[in-house]
Amino acid sequence: MTGGAGFIGTHVVTALHDAGHRVTIVDCGHPGAHRRPLPDTVAGAPVVRLDVRDGPGVAGVLAGVDAVVHQAAMVGLGVDLDDLPEYVGCNDLGTAVLLAAMARAGVHRLVLASSMVVYGEGAYVCAGHGPVRPGPRTVADLAAGRFEATCPSCGVAVTPGLVDEDAPLDPRSGYAATKVAQEHLTAAWARQTGGAVVALRYHNVYGPGMPRDTPYSGVAAMFRSALEAGQAPRVFEDGGQRRDFVHVRDVAAANLAALDATGTGTGWRAYNVASGRPATIGQLATELARAAGGPSPVVTGEFRLADVRHVVASPTRAETELGFRAVVGLADGIAEFAHAPLRG
Ligand code: UD1
Repeated sequence: MTGGAGFIGTHVVTALHDAGHRVTIVDCGHPGAHRRPLPDTVAGAPVVRLDVRDGPGVAGVLAGVDAVVHQAAMVGLGVDLDDLPEYVGCNDLGTAVLLAAMARAGVHRLVLASSMVVYGEGAYVCAGHGPVRPGPRTVADLAAGRFEATCPSCGVAVTPGLVDEDAPLDPRSGYAATKVAQEHLTAAWARQTGGAVVALRYHNVYGPGMPRDTPYSGVAAMFRSALEAGQAPRVFEDGGQRRDFVHVRDVAAANLAALDATGTGTGWRAYNVASGRPATIGQLATELARAAGGPSPVVTGEFRLADVRHVVASPTRAETELGFRAVVGLADGIAEFAHAPLRG
C-alpha cells in the first residue's frame, strides 16, 4: 500500500486490516500531506519510509506481495506552476517506477487512486443541442459573476447531469493532467503484463483525519479548519457549484471491493467512487457551520481559474460491477466531521 500514512490511505489500511489482509505501507511523508514525522505503524501495519520514485527501494518491499494499492500522490490545485514538476514527479514518474518494479517482481494486481478531476467539467445537456461539453470558463465571465457553464454552440445555460466513466477525459489543471497520465500508464502496463488494474475515480472525499488547511487540501478541510479557528467558511463563486461528497470510510470500502476485483479479472477498468448524492458547496458550508456551532459562511464571489463548475457522478458502474455502494449519509457524515480531528 503506497501513501498508507495519508488521510485516505490510513482509512484504507484500516479496512484492509479489518478484512484480514497483511499490509506493508510505503510512504515518503511528503510535506504537502504531512507536517509531522510519519508514525512507525498504521492500524498495525509497518510504515516503510520510502519515495515511490526510488526504484531499488520499491523493488525491496515487493517480495511476497500479491497486490499493490497505490494511493501515494500529490493532490489538490497546488500554489502555482512551480509545483508542476513535483506533481509530475510524484504522480507520474512515481507510478512509472512502481509499475516497472511490479512487472519485474511479477506483481500483477493494482488498485489506483484516480480522481474525478480527469473529467474536467461534468456532464451537461443543452435544451437545443443535447449532450454538450462546455470549455473552460473565461476570466471575463467569472469576474462578471457568470459562473454557470454555457453551451459551446449557442451560448445558453446548460443543465448539469451525472458523469459516467465513459465520459471523455478533459483535465483542466496540472494535477488533473497527472491523474490522466497515471490512468494511461496503468492501462498500458495492464496490456503489456496481462495484469489487472482498477482505477478508482474518487469524488470529493471528506472525513476524520483530513489534512488541515493547506494549498493541497480539499474544500471540506478548508471549511472545517476555518470553523475550528472561529472563522466563517469562505464560499467561492456563488456557492451553487455542485460536487459529490463521499465519506472516507466509504472510499476505503471501495478500495477493498476493487482489490477483490483485481483477483478475478484482467485488464483495466475505471469506476466513480461517489455517493450519487450531489450537494452544492454553499450547502456543505452551511451544514458544516451549523453542525460545528461556528460562524455562518460568507459567499465571496472569488474564483479559481482551474476550478470546474459542477461534477456530479453516476455511481452505477461501481455498484453493479464491484458491489460497492456508499453508505454514510451526508448529514451523518457532516455531523461527525464537524468535530472529528484533522491531521496536524
Ligand atoms: C477536489 C480535490 C482534488 C480531488 C478531487 C476529487 C483539492 C484541492 N481538490 O477537487 O484533489 O482529486 O476533489 O476528490 O484537494 N472552494 C470554496 N472555498 C474554499 C476552497 C474551495 O468555495 O476555501 C470551492 C472551489 O471553488 C470549488 C469547490 O469548493 O468550486 C471544490 O474545491 P476543491 O475541494 O478545492 O476542489 P475539487 O475540484 O472539488
